Amino acid sequence: MDLYEYQAKELFIRHEVPTTPGEVCTTAGDAETVAARIGGPVVVKAQVKTGGRGKAGGVKLADDPADARAKAEAILGMDIKGHTVHRVLVAEASDIAEEYYVSFLLDRANRTFLAMASVEGGVEIEEVAATKPEALAKIRVDALEGVSPTLAREIAAAANFPEDVRSQVADILVDLWRTMVKEDATLVEVNPLVKTPDGRVLALDGKVTLDENAAFRHPHHEELIDRDGTDAIELRAKDLDLNYVKLEGSVGIIGNGAGLVMSTLDVVSYAGEEFGGVEPANFLDIGGGASAEVMANGLDIVLGDPDVQAVFVNVFGGITACDAVANGIVQAISMLEQRGESVTKPIVCRIDGNNAEEGRQILNEAEHDLIELVETMDDAARRVAELAAARAAGK
Ligand SMILES: Nc1ncnc2c1ncn2[C@@H]1O[C@H](COP(=O)(O)OP(=O)(O)OP(=O)(O)O)[C@@H](O)[C@H]1O
Ligand SMILES: [Mg+2]
Repeated sequence: MDLYEYQAKELFIRHEVPTTPGEVCTTAGDAETVAARIGGPVVVKAQVKTGGRGKAGGVKLADDPADARAKAEAILGMDIKGHTVHRVLVAEASDIAEEYYVSFLLDRANRTFLAMASVEGGVEIEEVAATKPEALAKIRVDALEGVSPTLAREIAAAANFPEDVRSQVADILVDLWRTMVKEDATLVEVNPLVKTPDGRVLALDGKVTLDENAAFRHPHHEELIDRDGTDAIELRAKDLDLNYVKLEGSVGIIGNGAGLVMSTLDVVSYAGEEFGGVEPANFLDIGGGASAEVMANGLDIVLGDPDVQAVFVNVFGGITACDAVANGIVQAISMLEQRGESVTKPIVCRIDGNNAEEGRQILNEAEHDLIELVETMDDAARRVAELAAARAAGK
């Protein structure tokens, strides 16, 4: 889960990373009040979960409260790369002598954590990495050893931080690493980390991604969930404890096991080429021991997505046998119908594995108009893409 800058800064404050305190506002009037409370010049910053806010005009300095109001008025409602600005952060403006970059991230490809640091901050770091790779220090961080003061100094030295700020930067790196570990984050990034003319080092921006798989360890992360910025179907799936990700296409996908669902997305996308680029509408893994109720919830979520034209239920029976899953599908549909939801979208099922024969028999005997059994995964993908394209065209 990506956080807004103001939320990232709340975590920084909790872990003693020096930053500019500010307050988040949803109206220009509030921005004026907050600016008056802060006193002196402030910065008004769009809160959106995308980069390049400054370049898009979403970060503006304001001299006084009235100016803060005007700047907030200009920024609220702005569209930044498809994200509408509903909130601004109003924070004390800092005098800036130098802008740096520091981050920690989970480097999945190399199975390690990585520290990155540069004295050329403030600009997009991808640009520094592409045009001046020698200016971006990358140091591996061992998950068990973490960032000791010694390693932090090594990182600061590798990135050529000036002597006068090195120990402050090293302290901040240790604090940021603690933020990463204590909050179970997969990314903690500060761009820019600045030096003020009087020699203090401060995080003026913050980007944090939390590992949602660790949410159970962090009851306070619950309040960081962005209920109005998240897709309504994703929110409902989350409330039902389903592993669901909304995608752009028109074929609803339900499978058991993340690996199977991933490959289902691939085969549908591939088969969809033949039908004018039909694509999967979602990722949904109902897990190994999927009960009828879980299947019903899954079908409910997927069928409730207005973008979905046809559904592909792809199940490989393992510990949970196919007959149980097939019963789940049949019961799920009648459960939905009892709930008063009319099921009108075709559902293509491919079931294989443990007790596949029994499972197919159950689906055949159910004789449901909308359920279609297809033997192989590739054929089922092709059929569901065809049905989705036809239904979309018939609309
Ligand atoms: N509190 C502040 N005081 C003075 N200047 C600031 C302050 N916060 C940000 N700035 C200036 O605005 C620039 C852009 O701010 P920031 O890094 O927060 O947004 P961004 O980099 O454009 O957005 P993103 O990080 O989403 O790409 C900074 O590099 C800095 O020069
Ligand atoms: Mg930035």
